[in-house]
Amino acid sequence: MPVMLILGIESSCDETGIALYSTDPDGGLLAHALHSQIVMHQAYGGVVPELASRDHIRRVVPLVRKVLAESGRSLSEVDAIAYTQGPGLAGALLVGAAFAEGLATALGVPTVPVHHLEGHLLSPLLSDTPPRFPFIALLVSGGHSQLMRVAGVGAYQLLGETLDDAAGEAFDKTAKLLGLPYPGGAALADLAATGRPGLVKLPRPMLNSGNLDFSFSGLKTAVLIKVREIGTPDEQQRADIARGFQDAIVEVLVKKSMRAVMDSGLAQLVVAGGVGANQELRRQLDAQAAKARIAVFYPKLEFCTDNGAMIALAGGLRFAAGMSVKPAGAFAVRPRWPLADALA
Ligand code: KG4
Ligand code: ZN
Repeated sequence: MPVMLILGIESSCDETGIALYSTDPDGGLLAHALHSQIVMHQAYGGVVPELASRDHIRRVVPLVRKVLAESGRSLSEVDAIAYTQGPGLAGALLVGAAFAEGLATALGVPTVPVHHLEGHLLSPLLSDTPPRFPFIALLVSGGHSQLMRVAGVGAYQLLGETLDDAAGEAFDKTAKLLGLPYPGGAALADLAATGRPGLVKLPRPMLNSGNLDFSFSGLKTAVLIKVREIGTPDEQQRADIARGFQDAIVEVLVKKSMRAVMDSGLAQLVVAGGVGANQELRRQLDAQAAKARIAVFYPKLEFCTDNGAMIALAGGLRFAAGMSVKPAGAFAVRPRWPLADALA
């Protein structure tokens, strides 16, 4: 197959991400650019969908220009445009989808609608030392917590998932309870670093459930009860609670991930999604995996949270495999879209 140049567009939530990916083995990711709306949404304590959509409109063209300039390529060289079709915020998705379909129509090239989680799942392939199929993936983002068996592009088997809150959601809600700004995951991790281990004991939900499912909403409630017991926790008490929370969630994620890998008979674990940026999770996973002779792969930190590179990559791999490619023009977004419905 000739070398293809794919423009990737991510706009499912509060980050506009654009990237250019070449299917040439020596090419790969040529350039990428990102605008995060976090500061804009912080004043409201969470993402405001309408503001998100309007900001994507403002950012998408300048970011495409930036990526083209950085890579030294021109629009006329683009062979296909990949974009996040879902899941995500309907209005935000519509901006990326409408822009992608419009530009592709003007250029006379096809489009590749991509599932956002597939982007996260494949993002470790952008690393210098990527995993090889098949591998087990722990996908922990703001909206999802899942364990999957990944046999190839479009070949994903769900092994377990959260029954309620996602891990990132639990981090964000707990951070809010402790008075930290949105999105609280990274801030809570920073606070936990000064917390004392073992002082605040919290439950390990479903640790011994005998399956690979998770449940995190009870953990957040346990934190709420702790905070109420104390009344107005001081800085050290808040840090101790953060530490207790992080230790609980990390222990569950690590144990279930290790179990998933052991059960599968495979020797590679991939961690993807925003919570994969958590240093304590990485430290403990690395320690356990080393003991069990399992290799753990993480996306580069910048590709853990939402970005255009993973969408350009997933689009490029799908395009090369002749999957999901369609003529530019008519489109629909899929705000709710189970990954199982987006297989090969
Ligand atoms: O994958 P992502 O960027 O967006 C979704 O697709 O949802 O994940 C965002 C989530 C947020 O919940 C955020 O708080 C969490 O990832 N997160 C972290 C850390 N950095 C981001 N959670 C724990 N520790 C971190 N260092
Ligand atoms: Zn995401």
